[in-house]
Amino acid sequence: MGALGRPRRSCLAVPGSSTKMLGKAQGLAADQVFLDLEDSVAPLAKADARKNIVAALTEGDWAGKTRVVRVNDLTTPWTYRDVIDIVEGAGTHLDAIMLPKVQTVAHVQWLDLLLTQIEKTLGLPVGGIGIEAQIENARGLVNVDDIAGASPRVETIIFGPADFMASINMKSLVVGEQPPGYDVGDAYHYILSRLLMAARAHDLQVIDGPYLQIRDVDGFRRVAGRSAALGYDGKWVLHPGQIDAANELFSPDQGDYDHAELILDAYDYYTSEAGGRLGAVMLGDEMIDEASRKMALVIAGKGRAAGM
Ligand code: GLV
Ligand code: MG
Repeated sequence: MGALGRPRRSCLAVPGSSTKMLGKAQGLAADQVFLDLEDSVAPLAKADARKNIVAALTEGDWAGKTRVVRVNDLTTPWTYRDVIDIVEGAGTHLDAIMLPKVQTVAHVQWLDLLLTQIEKTLGLPVGGIGIEAQIENARGLVNVDDIAGASPRVETIIFGPADFMASINMKSLVVGEQPPGYDVGDAYHYILSRLLMAARAHDLQVIDGPYLQIRDVDGFRRVAGRSAALGYDGKWVLHPGQIDAANELFSPDQGDYDHAELILDAYDYYTSEAGGRLGAVMLGDEMIDEASRKMALVIAGKGRAAGM
């Protein structure tokens, strides 16, 4: 799955313990839903949540949405049962499994092998179910290149800011906002850039994690706007009120989209007029060459995927 894979501008978190939210999520405009078995579900509710998720996936209407289930991480006793019950119960109704707190390549390889066994047992196409790898601590970050290349199933690298901030002892309580006292730049810049490079080196998508102040849509827009500008493909949304902002921010604005299409048309027109002998041409006062064509293709590709 390439960097322009399944749509994921807005990735809606839905607790598997809430049948109400599993129902409501189906009517919302998020590109992706991830039905959660991990941190939004209490230990005693996990077994029922697996059943709720299988029922919601097999009986619900998720048309047009990327369908993902987040299982528990591999330090818990729940992960293998999560994967087996979800994939055996909902195999053809599922696009990917999200594995949280991935720390090493072995974590991804474990999931890849288990998925292969289940797919073979069920007669499903081997490799059909993707993997989303959440990076949530320093060990995951230093191993992220290997994690991104660990299996052809890996479709996205995801930043998990809350767990990450806790794991590095960041002196802050507000996820995604700058830690008070750090006044020399953006405390997330290194992490966001590091994940982006690892993802792109393996032609994967890269997704920013949650913003927990769910009523502060301006705050969401500010934080999401940064990762969108860097090149991220999308961001988690925890509340319906964040969905439109994410879909808008992770699409190009109309002016940029129109200009990108103009560059592509002009470049094709002038270079073919010149019989393929011109490398750089002029569009008004702007010089465009093969590299500008590639930049335009990124913006145009995002716009086309967003139906612009
Ligand atoms: C998400 O899982 C996070 O820890 O931010
Ligand atoms: Mg987390």
